[in-house]
Amino acid sequence: MRIAVPTESCPQERRVALTPQSVTQLIKIGHEVAVEQGAGTDAGFSDDSYAEAGAQIVADRAQLIADAELVVQVRGYGADATHAKADLGLFKDGQICIGLQDPLWAPELTQELAQTGATVMALETIPRISRAQSMDVLSSMATNAGYKAVLIAAVELPQMFPMMMTAAGTVTAAKVLVMGAGVAGLQAIATARRLGAVVQGYDIRPAASEQIRSLGAKAVELQLDSAESEDAGGYAKAQGDDFNRRQQELLAQVVADSDVVITTAAIPGAKSPILVTTSMVEGMSPGSVIVDLAAERGGNCELTVADQRVDHGGVIILGPTDLPSQVARDGSSMFSNNITSLIKHLTEDGEITLDLDDEITRDTLVARSGEVLHPRMREKLNLEPLEPPAQPEEETDDTNGSEGAED
Ligand code: NAI
Repeated sequence: MRIAVPTESCPQERRVALTPQSVTQLIKIGHEVAVEQGAGTDAGFSDDSYAEAGAQIVADRAQLIADAELVVQVRGYGADATHAKADLGLFKDGQICIGLQDPLWAPELTQELAQTGATVMALETIPRISRAQSMDVLSSMATNAGYKAVLIAAVELPQMFPMMMTAAGTVTAAKVLVMGAGVAGLQAIATARRLGAVVQGYDIRPAASEQIRSLGAKAVELQLDSAESEDAGGYAKAQGDDFNRRQQELLAQVVADSDVVITTAAIPGAKSPILVTTSMVEGMSPGSVIVDLAAERGGNCELTVADQRVDHGGVIILGPTDLPSQVARDGSSMFSNNITSLIKHLTEDGEITLDLDDEITRDTLVARSGEVLHPRMREKLNLEPLEPPAQPEEETDDTNGSEGAED
């Protein structure tokens, strides 16, 4: 099957969907790969390195997409419609498009892509099960984001992270609080610990406390956490207003005592919960820094503005939405390894086979032949269910958060 790797259309996106190493692996299992000229440059992969790996380098983007049976992108149309509008007319009936598609947040864009007849596979809906761990792009990217969030906080903070005893006096360690201890949060905890900060972690899921402690951080435990905090897949469930208010009250002092707060709390497909209110920010010392990883979904801090630096009474609030792209080389390598595992999983005799009895394929295949297939997307689009929800084939396991727990 002929696979195309276009240059990402979003100007801020520096990652590339496949690295030369992955190209070699895909050619070995019977695929052909064509890469748009310059697609890997920002991530540190030259056209020559792709050519050496066996890829064809194509200068004409329209031709590249027209000739492909499978198009792989970091940001698929659903995740980048503003910049990718010009591509929409290039997709065609039966062509498979794999990439981040933002299917639960902006399902109407994937629906628009599906109208071209393309088969759409969304990397966000890969199930978090053991068998699919090697394909879990969200976890890989969250790992990068958690790491980078700490580095940008360290640059912004007018303090050093480690304690130092010097001839000029003793410097106390910075106090870092990480709220939301999933994949990104655990990686942020691990990174802040490596830099020598005193770290606390908080999560609504009781199971996260053990993981926070295993990284050498203190787990903040609030009396209000309940068994209702997570769903059957191990993801956090949205809570009511009373819970959120009480949580904010109990966390206010911990936030006020922190020099750096990194927030990563996410509810899949929903707006981010507010964990840090304006009055909590006002309780922090000037010079403190908040890095809000949930900025794209409204943010965990009331004052966050996506991709802006907000100064509120001397407290700096950053809401970067492109952190994995800021670590473009490793971000691309991890993304590419994940996507290559998925393509290998789907490949039989050099061709892609979409077996709907397979849980990974079924969950990832969100639209085909002009029709949205994914049940949660259909719900959000007010479409009738196609069939009664299928029973899960296998147990989801507790991979949530395990990526960051290697320190
Ligand atoms: P995850 O689902 O593994 O972790 C989120 C954690 O938040 C879970 O442990 C959950 O229990 C916790 N949580 C949810 N509601 C909470 C509440 N009310 N109080 C405390 N904890 C709560 O998600 P992952 O993969 O770690 O991603 C985290 C966030 O980072 C997401 O919003 C994701 O979109 C974002 N992200 C941002 C990037 C960027 O460049 N800014 C890049 C990659 C991910």
